[in-house]
Amino acid sequence: MTDDDPGTAVRRDRFSGGPAREFLSSLAADAAIFEADLAVDRAHTVMLAEQGIVDDAVAGAILDALADVEAAGHDDLSDGEDVHEAIETAVIDRIGPDGGRMHTARSRNDEVATCIRYRLREDLLAAAEATLALREALVDAAGEHTETVMPGYTHLQPAQPTTVAHYLLSYEGGIARDTERLLDAYERVNRSPLGAAAFAGTPFDIDRERTAELLGFDGTVRNSTDAASARDFLAEGSTACATLATTLSGLAEDLVIFSNKGFVELSDAYASTSSIMPQKKNPDTLELARGVAGDAIGEATGTLSLLKGLPRAYNRDLQRAHAGVFDIADDVREATEVAAGAVATAEWNDATLADAAGEGFATATGVADLLAMNGMPFRTAHEIVATAAESVSDDDSAADAAAKVDEATRKVTGEALSAHVSREAVVSALDPAASVASRDSAGGPAPAAVADELATAESGIEADTATLTAERESLAAAAELLASEVDSYV
Ligand code: ARG
Repeated sequence: MTDDDPGTAVRRDRFSGGPAREFLSSLAADAAIFEADLAVDRAHTVMLAEQGIVDDAVAGAILDALADVEAAGHDDLSDGEDVHEAIETAVIDRIGPDGGRMHTARSRNDEVATCIRYRLREDLLAAAEATLALREALVDAAGEHTETVMPGYTHLQPAQPTTVAHYLLSYEGGIARDTERLLDAYERVNRSPLGAAAFAGTPFDIDRERTAELLGFDGTVRNSTDAASARDFLAEGSTACATLATTLSGLAEDLVIFSNKGFVELSDAYASTSSIMPQKKNPDTLELARGVAGDAIGEATGTLSLLKGLPRAYNRDLQRAHAGVFDIADDVREATEVAAGAVATAEWNDATLADAAGEGFATATGVADLLAMNGMPFRTAHEIVATAAESVSDDDSAADAAAKVDEATRKVTGEALSAHVSREAVVSALDPAASVASRDSAGGPAPAAVADELATAESGIEADTATLTAERESLAAAAELLASEVDSYV
Protein backbone atom coordinates (compact mmCIF):
# COMPACT_ATOMS: atom_id res chain seq x y z
CA MET A 1 0.00 0.00 0.00
CA THR A 2 1.54 3.32 -1.07
CA ASP A 3 0.57 6.86 -0.15
CA ASP A 4 -1.61 7.30 -3.21
CA ASP A 5 -3.08 3.81 -2.73
CA PRO A 6 -5.87 4.10 -0.17
CA GLY A 7 -5.86 0.31 0.29
CA THR A 8 -9.02 -1.53 1.17
CA ALA A 9 -11.20 -1.77 4.24
CA VAL A 10 -9.17 -4.76 5.32
CA ARG A 11 -5.78 -3.29 4.56
CA ARG A 12 -6.03 0.41 5.29
CA ASP A 13 -5.58 1.73 8.78
CA ARG A 14 -9.18 2.32 9.82
CA PHE A 15 -9.38 -0.98 11.63
CA SER A 16 -6.77 -2.29 13.96
CA GLY A 17 -4.26 0.33 12.92
CA GLY A 18 -4.00 1.90 16.35
CA PRO A 19 -2.40 1.03 19.63
CA ALA A 20 -4.14 -2.36 19.80
CA ARG A 21 -2.66 -3.50 16.52
CA GLU A 22 -0.05 -5.75 18.07
CA PHE A 23 -2.55 -7.21 20.49
CA LEU A 24 -4.91 -8.02 17.65
CA SER A 25 -2.27 -9.47 15.39
CA SER A 26 -1.51 -13.18 15.27
CA LEU A 27 1.02 -12.77 12.47
CA ALA A 28 4.05 -13.90 14.48
CA ALA A 29 2.33 -17.01 15.88
CA ASP A 30 0.87 -17.70 12.44
CA ALA A 31 4.34 -18.77 11.24
CA ALA A 32 3.13 -22.21 12.33
CA ILE A 33 0.37 -22.10 9.71
CA PHE A 34 2.21 -20.25 6.92
CA GLU A 35 2.63 -23.42 4.83
CA ALA A 36 -0.89 -24.53 5.66
CA ASP A 37 -2.33 -21.22 4.54
CA LEU A 38 -0.48 -21.39 1.23
CA ALA A 39 -1.89 -24.87 0.63
CA VAL A 40 -5.38 -23.68 1.54
CA ASP A 41 -5.04 -20.67 -0.78
CA ARG A 42 -3.88 -22.91 -3.60
CA ALA A 43 -6.64 -25.48 -3.18
CA HIS A 44 -9.28 -22.76 -2.92
CA THR A 45 -7.96 -20.94 -6.01
CA VAL A 46 -7.84 -24.15 -8.07
CA MET A 47 -11.43 -24.91 -7.03
CA LEU A 48 -12.58 -21.37 -7.88
CA ALA A 49 -11.08 -21.77 -11.36
CA GLU A 50 -12.57 -25.22 -11.86
CA GLN A 51 -15.98 -23.89 -10.89
CA GLY A 52 -15.62 -20.96 -13.29
CA ILE A 53 -15.74 -18.48 -10.40
CA VAL A 54 -12.36 -16.99 -11.38
CA ASP A 55 -10.74 -17.10 -14.82
CA ASP A 56 -7.98 -19.60 -15.37
CA ALA A 57 -5.56 -16.79 -16.20
CA VAL A 58 -6.32 -14.98 -12.95
CA ALA A 59 -6.00 -18.24 -11.05
CA GLY A 60 -2.64 -18.79 -12.74
CA ALA A 61 -1.44 -15.34 -11.72
CA ILE A 62 -2.58 -15.88 -8.12
CA LEU A 63 -0.93 -19.29 -7.94
CA ASP A 64 2.24 -17.84 -9.41
CA ALA A 65 2.24 -15.07 -6.83
CA LEU A 66 1.70 -17.62 -4.06
CA ALA A 67 4.84 -19.47 -5.17
CA ASP A 68 6.72 -16.21 -4.91
CA VAL A 69 5.25 -15.47 -1.48
CA GLU A 70 6.28 -18.95 -0.35
CA ALA A 71 9.83 -18.47 -1.60
CA ALA A 72 10.06 -15.15 0.23
CA GLY A 73 8.95 -16.84 3.45
CA HIS A 74 6.78 -15.90 6.40
CA ASP A 75 9.26 -13.31 7.65
CA ASP A 76 8.90 -11.36 4.43
CA LEU A 77 5.18 -10.76 4.96
CA SER A 78 4.30 -7.18 5.68
CA ASP A 79 2.55 -6.20 8.82
CA GLY A 80 -1.01 -7.48 9.00
CA GLU A 81 -3.64 -8.75 11.37
CA ASP A 82 -2.78 -12.30 10.51
CA VAL A 83 -1.12 -14.55 7.97
CA HIS A 84 -4.30 -14.80 5.90
CA GLU A 85 -4.52 -11.07 5.40
CA ALA A 86 -0.77 -10.71 4.96
CA ILE A 87 -0.58 -13.36 2.25
CA GLU A 88 -3.52 -11.84 0.42
CA THR A 89 -1.81 -8.45 0.64
CA ALA A 90 1.41 -9.96 -0.68
CA VAL A 91 -0.46 -11.48 -3.63
CA ILE A 92 -2.23 -8.20 -4.40
CA ASP A 93 1.08 -6.35 -4.13
CA ARG A 94 2.47 -8.69 -6.77
CA ILE A 95 -0.38 -8.93 -9.29
CA GLY A 96 -2.75 -6.08 -8.50
CA PRO A 97 -6.44 -6.11 -7.53
CA ASP A 98 -7.10 -9.45 -9.24
CA GLY A 99 -5.22 -10.98 -6.31
CA GLY A 100 -8.23 -10.10 -4.22
CA ARG A 101 -10.29 -12.68 -6.14
CA MET A 102 -8.54 -15.34 -4.09
CA HIS A 103 -10.79 -14.48 -1.17
CA THR A 104 -14.02 -15.04 -3.15
CA ALA A 105 -16.47 -17.40 -1.43
CA ARG A 106 -14.53 -17.75 1.77
CA SER A 107 -13.79 -15.98 5.04
CA ARG A 108 -10.80 -15.96 7.30
CA ASN A 109 -13.02 -17.96 9.63
CA ASP A 110 -13.20 -21.07 7.48
CA GLU A 111 -9.68 -20.35 6.25
CA VAL A 112 -8.05 -20.38 9.68
CA ALA A 113 -10.09 -23.37 10.81
CA THR A 114 -8.80 -25.25 7.77
CA CYS A 115 -5.22 -24.14 8.35
CA ILE A 116 -5.10 -25.31 11.94
CA ARG A 117 -6.60 -28.67 11.10
CA TYR A 118 -4.09 -29.00 8.24
CA ARG A 119 -1.21 -28.24 10.60
CA LEU A 120 -2.45 -30.28 13.57
CA ARG A 121 -2.72 -33.37 11.38
CA GLU A 122 1.06 -33.36 10.99
CA ASP A 123 1.60 -32.82 14.70
CA LEU A 124 -0.69 -35.68 15.66
CA LEU A 125 0.94 -38.05 13.18
CA ALA A 126 4.40 -37.05 14.42
CA ALA A 127 3.35 -37.67 18.03
CA ALA A 128 1.81 -41.01 17.06
CA GLU A 129 5.02 -41.96 15.28
CA ALA A 130 7.01 -41.17 18.43
CA THR A 131 4.71 -43.45 20.43
CA LEU A 132 5.45 -46.26 17.98
CA ALA A 133 9.19 -45.78 18.51
CA LEU A 134 8.70 -45.90 22.27
CA ARG A 135 6.55 -49.02 22.02
CA GLU A 136 9.22 -50.68 19.92
CA ALA A 137 11.90 -49.76 22.46
CA LEU A 138 9.74 -51.16 25.28
CA VAL A 139 9.04 -54.39 23.40
CA ASP A 140 12.70 -54.87 22.41
CA ALA A 141 13.90 -54.39 25.99
CA ALA A 142 11.09 -56.61 27.24
CA GLY A 143 12.14 -59.34 24.80
CA GLU A 144 15.58 -59.37 26.41
CA HIS A 145 14.26 -59.48 29.96
CA THR A 146 11.46 -62.04 30.11
CA GLU A 147 13.41 -63.92 32.80
CA THR A 148 14.82 -60.91 34.63
CA VAL A 149 13.06 -60.96 37.98
CA MET A 150 12.40 -57.63 39.68
CA PRO A 151 10.34 -56.38 42.60
CA GLY A 152 6.87 -55.12 41.82
CA TYR A 153 5.38 -52.40 44.01
CA THR A 154 2.03 -51.16 45.13
CA HIS A 155 2.01 -48.00 47.28
CA LEU A 156 5.76 -48.07 46.51
CA GLN A 157 6.02 -50.99 48.99
CA PRO A 158 7.45 -54.34 47.85
CA ALA A 159 4.38 -56.28 46.69
CA GLN A 160 5.07 -59.25 44.42
CA PRO A 161 7.99 -60.20 42.22
CA THR A 162 7.53 -59.62 38.52
CA THR A 163 9.89 -59.38 35.55
CA VAL A 164 11.41 -56.44 33.75
CA ALA A 165 9.62 -57.65 30.59
CA HIS A 166 6.23 -57.66 32.28
CA TYR A 167 6.88 -54.26 33.83
CA LEU A 168 7.93 -52.72 30.48
CA LEU A 169 4.98 -54.25 28.66
CA SER A 170 2.66 -52.63 31.17
CA TYR A 171 3.77 -49.32 29.70
CA GLU A 172 3.62 -50.62 26.15
CA GLY A 173 -0.08 -51.26 26.78
CA GLY A 174 -0.63 -47.71 28.03
CA ILE A 175 1.33 -46.08 25.23
CA ALA A 176 -0.54 -48.25 22.69
CA ARG A 177 -3.79 -46.68 23.90
CA ASP A 178 -2.12 -43.27 23.60
CA THR A 179 -1.31 -44.09 19.96
CA GLU A 180 -4.94 -45.04 19.44
CA ARG A 181 -6.15 -41.82 21.02
CA LEU A 182 -3.88 -39.75 18.77
CA LEU A 183 -4.94 -41.61 15.64
CA ASP A 184 -8.55 -41.39 16.70
CA ALA A 185 -8.27 -37.63 17.25
CA TYR A 186 -6.62 -37.45 13.83
CA GLU A 187 -9.73 -38.91 12.18
CA ARG A 188 -11.86 -36.08 13.52
CA VAL A 189 -9.25 -33.38 12.84
CA ASN A 190 -8.94 -34.59 9.27
CA ARG A 191 -12.18 -32.98 7.98
CA SER A 192 -12.31 -29.82 5.94
CA PRO A 193 -14.23 -26.78 7.14
CA LEU A 194 -13.29 -24.84 3.99
CA GLY A 195 -16.27 -23.40 2.15
CA ALA A 196 -18.17 -22.61 5.33
CA ALA A 197 -17.23 -18.95 4.69
CA ALA A 198 -17.87 -16.75 7.73
CA PHE A 199 -20.24 -19.38 9.15
CA ALA A 200 -23.31 -19.12 6.94
CA GLY A 201 -22.16 -20.47 3.62
CA THR A 202 -21.85 -18.61 0.33
CA PRO A 203 -23.98 -18.00 -2.75
CA PHE A 204 -21.09 -19.04 -5.01
CA ASP A 205 -21.26 -22.47 -6.58
CA ILE A 206 -18.25 -23.82 -4.70
CA ASP A 207 -17.16 -27.45 -4.45
CA ARG A 208 -16.26 -28.20 -0.85
CA GLU A 209 -15.49 -31.86 -1.56
CA ARG A 210 -12.92 -30.79 -4.12
CA THR A 211 -10.99 -28.49 -1.77
CA ALA A 212 -11.16 -31.23 0.85
CA GLU A 213 -9.67 -33.67 -1.65
CA LEU A 214 -6.93 -31.26 -2.74
CA LEU A 215 -5.93 -30.73 0.89
CA GLY A 216 -6.00 -34.43 1.76
CA PHE A 217 -8.99 -34.17 4.10
CA ASP A 218 -11.20 -37.16 4.54
CA GLY A 219 -14.43 -35.27 3.78
CA THR A 220 -15.87 -32.05 5.15
CA VAL A 221 -17.33 -30.69 8.36
CA ARG A 222 -20.77 -30.32 6.84
CA ASN A 223 -22.71 -27.66 8.76
CA SER A 224 -21.08 -24.35 7.88
CA THR A 225 -21.57 -22.83 11.35
CA ASP A 226 -20.13 -25.93 12.99
CA ALA A 227 -17.25 -25.90 10.49
CA ALA A 228 -16.26 -22.28 11.19
CA SER A 229 -16.81 -22.39 14.95
CA ALA A 230 -15.75 -25.82 16.14
CA ARG A 231 -12.46 -26.21 17.97
CA ASP A 232 -13.31 -29.35 19.91
CA PHE A 233 -10.64 -31.01 17.79
CA LEU A 234 -8.08 -28.82 19.57
CA ALA A 235 -9.41 -29.94 22.92
CA GLU A 236 -9.25 -33.52 21.74
CA GLY A 237 -5.76 -33.19 20.28
CA SER A 238 -4.37 -31.50 23.36
CA THR A 239 -6.07 -34.01 25.66
CA ALA A 240 -4.65 -36.91 23.66
CA CYS A 241 -1.21 -35.30 24.06
CA ALA A 242 -1.77 -34.67 27.78
CA THR A 243 -2.85 -38.27 28.31
CA LEU A 244 0.24 -39.53 26.51
CA ALA A 245 2.39 -37.17 28.57
CA THR A 246 0.76 -38.47 31.73
CA THR A 247 1.53 -42.08 30.80
CA LEU A 248 5.06 -41.00 30.00
CA SER A 249 5.44 -39.22 33.33
CA GLY A 250 4.69 -42.46 35.19
CA LEU A 251 7.31 -44.35 33.21
CA ALA A 252 9.79 -41.53 33.76
CA GLU A 253 9.08 -41.45 37.50
CA ASP A 254 9.56 -45.21 37.81
CA LEU A 255 12.85 -45.07 35.97
CA VAL A 256 14.05 -42.19 38.15
CA ILE A 257 13.25 -44.30 41.23
CA PHE A 258 14.79 -47.42 39.68
CA SER A 259 17.96 -45.43 38.89
CA ASN A 260 18.07 -44.38 42.51
CA LYS A 261 17.85 -48.01 43.63
CA GLY A 262 20.51 -49.13 41.16
CA PHE A 263 18.01 -51.33 39.30
CA VAL A 264 18.68 -49.61 36.01
CA GLU A 265 21.44 -47.44 34.62
CA LEU A 266 20.68 -44.88 31.99
CA SER A 267 23.10 -44.39 29.15
CA ASP A 268 25.28 -41.29 29.59
CA ALA A 269 23.56 -39.84 26.54
CA TYR A 270 20.34 -39.62 28.54
CA ALA A 271 21.85 -38.41 31.80
CA SER A 272 23.48 -35.26 33.09
CA THR A 273 26.05 -34.59 35.74
CA SER A 274 26.31 -31.89 38.39
CA SER A 275 28.34 -28.74 37.93
CA ILE A 276 29.65 -29.12 41.49
CA MET A 277 29.30 -32.78 42.53
CA PRO A 278 31.57 -34.64 40.12
CA GLN A 279 30.33 -38.12 41.04
CA LYS A 280 26.76 -37.44 40.01
CA LYS A 281 24.87 -39.00 37.17
CA ASN A 282 21.34 -37.68 37.12
CA PRO A 283 18.35 -38.92 35.10
CA ASP A 284 17.58 -35.40 33.87
CA THR A 285 16.04 -36.42 30.55
CA LEU A 286 13.41 -38.44 32.36
CA GLU A 287 12.77 -35.64 34.82
CA LEU A 288 12.14 -33.28 31.92
CA ALA A 289 9.90 -35.85 30.24
CA ARG A 290 7.99 -36.10 33.52
CA GLY A 291 7.75 -32.31 33.64
CA VAL A 292 6.24 -32.02 30.17
CA ALA A 293 3.06 -33.63 31.53
CA GLY A 294 2.42 -30.55 33.67
CA ASP A 295 2.57 -28.27 30.65
CA ALA A 296 0.47 -30.62 28.56
CA ILE A 297 -2.23 -30.84 31.20
CA GLY A 298 -2.12 -27.04 31.45
CA GLU A 299 -2.54 -26.72 27.69
CA ALA A 300 -5.49 -29.13 27.57
CA THR A 301 -7.11 -27.33 30.50
CA GLY A 302 -6.40 -23.94 28.94
CA THR A 303 -7.91 -25.01 25.63
CA LEU A 304 -11.12 -26.23 27.23
CA SER A 305 -11.31 -23.11 29.40
CA LEU A 306 -10.91 -20.87 26.38
CA LEU A 307 -13.63 -22.70 24.48
CA LYS A 308 -16.05 -22.94 27.39
CA GLY A 309 -19.14 -20.79 26.93
CA LEU A 310 -18.15 -19.27 23.58
CA PRO A 311 -21.26 -18.36 21.64
CA ARG A 312 -21.75 -19.33 18.02
CA ALA A 313 -20.24 -18.59 15.56
CA TYR A 314 -16.74 -17.10 15.30
CA ASN A 315 -15.25 -15.14 18.19
CA ARG A 316 -11.77 -13.72 18.22
CA ASP A 317 -10.93 -15.66 21.38
CA LEU A 318 -10.40 -18.55 18.96
CA GLN A 319 -7.26 -16.89 17.66
CA ARG A 320 -5.61 -17.86 20.95
CA ALA A 321 -6.74 -21.49 20.88
CA HIS A 322 -4.33 -23.27 18.58
CA ALA A 323 -0.71 -22.07 18.86
CA GLY A 324 -0.23 -23.63 22.29
CA VAL A 325 -1.64 -26.93 21.07
CA PHE A 326 0.93 -27.08 18.27
CA ASP A 327 3.68 -26.32 20.78
CA ILE A 328 2.61 -28.91 23.31
CA ALA A 329 2.16 -31.58 20.64
CA ASP A 330 5.76 -30.86 19.70
CA ASP A 331 7.02 -31.01 23.30
CA VAL A 332 5.17 -34.24 24.00
CA ARG A 333 6.50 -35.78 20.79
CA GLU A 334 10.03 -34.84 21.80
CA ALA A 335 9.59 -36.19 25.33
CA THR A 336 8.28 -39.44 23.85
CA GLU A 337 11.27 -39.74 21.53
CA VAL A 338 13.67 -39.09 24.38
CA ALA A 339 11.94 -41.67 26.56
CA ALA A 340 12.24 -44.16 23.69
CA GLY A 341 15.97 -43.49 23.48
CA ALA A 342 16.41 -43.75 27.24
CA VAL A 343 14.55 -47.07 27.38
CA ALA A 344 16.40 -48.49 24.37
CA THR A 345 19.83 -47.73 25.85
CA ALA A 346 19.21 -48.38 29.55
CA GLU A 347 21.04 -51.26 31.25
CA TRP A 348 19.01 -53.34 33.70
CA ASN A 349 21.05 -54.61 36.61
CA ASP A 350 19.92 -58.27 36.85
CA ALA A 351 21.75 -59.09 40.08
CA THR A 352 20.48 -56.08 42.04
CA LEU A 353 16.97 -56.69 40.73
CA ALA A 354 17.07 -60.38 41.71
CA ASP A 355 18.24 -59.51 45.23
CA ALA A 356 15.52 -56.92 45.63
CA ALA A 357 12.80 -59.13 44.13
CA GLY A 358 12.39 -61.23 47.28
CA GLU A 359 12.77 -58.37 49.75
CA GLY A 360 9.95 -57.43 52.07
CA PHE A 361 8.54 -60.98 51.98
CA ALA A 362 7.31 -60.17 48.47
CA THR A 363 6.56 -63.82 47.77
CA ALA A 364 3.99 -63.96 50.60
CA THR A 365 1.00 -63.85 48.23
CA GLY A 366 2.44 -66.82 46.34
CA VAL A 367 2.62 -68.82 49.56
CA ALA A 368 -1.00 -67.95 50.40
CA ASP A 369 -2.00 -68.92 46.82
CA LEU A 370 -0.18 -72.24 47.25
CA LEU A 371 -2.10 -73.03 50.46
CA ALA A 372 -5.39 -72.07 48.82
CA MET A 373 -4.59 -74.17 45.75
CA ASN A 374 -4.23 -77.09 48.15
CA GLY A 375 -7.74 -76.68 49.47
CA MET A 376 -7.47 -74.10 52.25
CA PRO A 377 -9.89 -71.12 52.13
CA PHE A 378 -7.88 -68.18 50.80
CA ARG A 379 -8.80 -66.02 53.79
CA THR A 380 -7.30 -68.61 56.20
CA ALA A 381 -4.19 -68.88 54.03
CA HIS A 382 -3.90 -65.08 54.04
CA GLU A 383 -4.15 -65.07 57.84
CA ILE A 384 -1.41 -67.71 58.17
CA VAL A 385 1.00 -65.85 55.90
CA ALA A 386 0.15 -62.51 57.53
CA THR A 387 1.01 -64.08 60.90
CA ALA A 388 4.29 -65.44 59.51
CA ALA A 389 5.06 -62.04 57.94
CA GLU A 390 5.28 -60.50 61.40
CA SER A 391 8.49 -62.45 62.01
CA VAL A 392 9.92 -63.13 58.52
CA SER A 393 12.86 -60.85 57.74
CA ASP A 394 14.99 -60.21 54.67
CA ASP A 395 17.86 -62.08 56.34
CA ASP A 396 15.86 -65.31 56.58
CA SER A 397 16.68 -68.15 54.20
CA ALA A 398 13.74 -69.72 52.37
CA ALA A 399 13.93 -72.64 54.81
CA ASP A 400 13.73 -70.27 57.78
CA ALA A 401 10.74 -68.52 56.26
CA ALA A 402 9.03 -71.86 55.52
CA ALA A 403 9.54 -72.86 59.16
CA LYS A 404 7.85 -69.64 60.21
CA VAL A 405 4.94 -70.40 57.88
CA ASP A 406 4.67 -73.84 59.51
CA GLU A 407 4.59 -72.23 62.93
CA ALA A 408 1.94 -69.77 61.83
CA THR A 409 -0.17 -72.57 60.33
CA ARG A 410 -0.21 -74.34 63.67
CA LYS A 411 -1.14 -71.12 65.42
CA VAL A 412 -4.01 -70.27 63.06
CA THR A 413 -5.42 -73.74 62.27
CA GLY A 414 -4.02 -75.99 65.00
CA GLU A 415 -2.61 -78.21 62.23
CA ALA A 416 0.89 -78.65 60.84
CA LEU A 417 1.75 -77.09 57.49
CA SER A 418 2.37 -80.63 56.18
CA ALA A 419 -1.34 -81.38 56.63
CA HIS A 420 -1.89 -79.03 53.67
CA VAL A 421 1.27 -78.81 51.60
CA SER A 422 4.89 -79.96 51.73
CA ARG A 423 7.49 -77.66 53.16
CA GLU A 424 9.54 -78.02 49.92
CA ALA A 425 6.60 -76.61 47.97
CA VAL A 426 6.56 -73.60 50.31
CA VAL A 427 10.32 -73.13 49.93
CA SER A 428 9.85 -73.14 46.16
CA ALA A 429 6.98 -70.64 46.35
CA LEU A 430 9.30 -68.35 48.30
CA ASP A 431 11.70 -68.19 45.36
CA PRO A 432 11.00 -65.02 43.33
CA ALA A 433 11.67 -66.69 39.96
CA ALA A 434 9.41 -69.64 40.79
CA SER A 435 6.82 -67.23 42.10
CA VAL A 436 6.84 -65.32 38.82
CA ALA A 437 6.78 -68.52 36.74
CA SER A 438 3.72 -69.75 38.63
CA ARG A 439 1.66 -66.68 37.72
CA ASP A 440 0.91 -67.73 34.18
CA SER A 441 -2.66 -66.43 33.97
CA ALA A 442 -3.44 -64.52 30.77
CA GLY A 443 -1.47 -61.27 30.84
CA GLY A 444 0.51 -62.39 33.89
CA PRO A 445 4.28 -62.13 34.36
CA ALA A 446 5.25 -65.81 33.84
CA PRO A 447 7.66 -65.95 30.89
CA ALA A 448 5.21 -68.16 28.98
CA ALA A 449 2.40 -65.61 29.38
CA VAL A 450 4.75 -62.73 28.54
CA ALA A 451 5.69 -64.45 25.28
CA ASP A 452 2.03 -64.10 24.23
CA GLU A 453 1.95 -60.48 25.36
CA LEU A 454 5.09 -59.74 23.35
CA ALA A 455 3.51 -61.19 20.23
CA THR A 456 0.32 -59.17 20.77
CA ALA A 457 2.31 -55.98 21.34
CA GLU A 458 4.34 -56.56 18.20
CA SER A 459 1.29 -57.08 16.03
CA GLY A 460 -0.34 -53.98 17.55
CA ILE A 461 2.72 -51.92 16.63
CA GLU A 462 2.62 -53.33 13.12
CA ALA A 463 -1.07 -52.49 12.68
CA ASP A 464 -0.68 -48.94 13.99
CA THR A 465 2.40 -48.42 11.83
CA ALA A 466 0.36 -49.47 8.80
CA THR A 467 -2.40 -46.99 9.73
CA LEU A 468 0.11 -44.20 10.20
CA THR A 469 1.86 -44.99 6.91
CA ALA A 470 -1.47 -45.05 5.07
CA GLU A 471 -2.43 -41.63 6.49
CA ARG A 472 0.95 -40.19 5.55
CA GLU A 473 0.70 -41.62 2.05
CA SER A 474 -2.74 -40.20 1.61
CA LEU A 475 -1.51 -36.74 2.65
CA ALA A 476 1.47 -37.04 0.31
CA ALA A 477 -0.79 -38.10 -2.57
CA ALA A 478 -3.07 -35.10 -1.96
CA ALA A 479 -0.06 -32.76 -1.86
CA GLU A 480 1.07 -34.17 -5.19
CA LEU A 481 -2.40 -33.79 -6.68
CA LEU A 482 -2.59 -30.19 -5.52
CA ALA A 483 0.87 -29.45 -6.90
CA SER A 484 0.01 -30.90 -10.29
CA GLU A 485 -3.29 -29.01 -10.45
CA VAL A 486 -1.43 -25.81 -9.54
CA ASP A 487 1.13 -26.57 -12.28
CA SER A 488 -1.61 -26.76 -14.86
CA TYR A 489 -2.40 -23.07 -14.30
CA VAL A 490 1.07 -21.55 -14.07
N1 ARG B 1 -6.39 -14.70 12.88
C1 ARG B 1 -7.75 -15.10 13.07
C2 ARG B 1 -7.78 -16.40 13.91
O1 ARG B 1 -6.77 -17.00 14.06
C3 ARG B 1 -8.39 -15.30 11.77
C4 ARG B 1 -9.88 -15.12 11.75
C5 ARG B 1 -10.27 -13.71 11.86
N2 ARG B 1 -11.67 -13.61 11.63
C6 ARG B 1 -12.42 -12.59 12.10
N3 ARG B 1 -13.67 -12.64 11.85
N4 ARG B 1 -11.89 -11.64 12.80
O2 ARG B 1 -8.79 -16.78 14.43
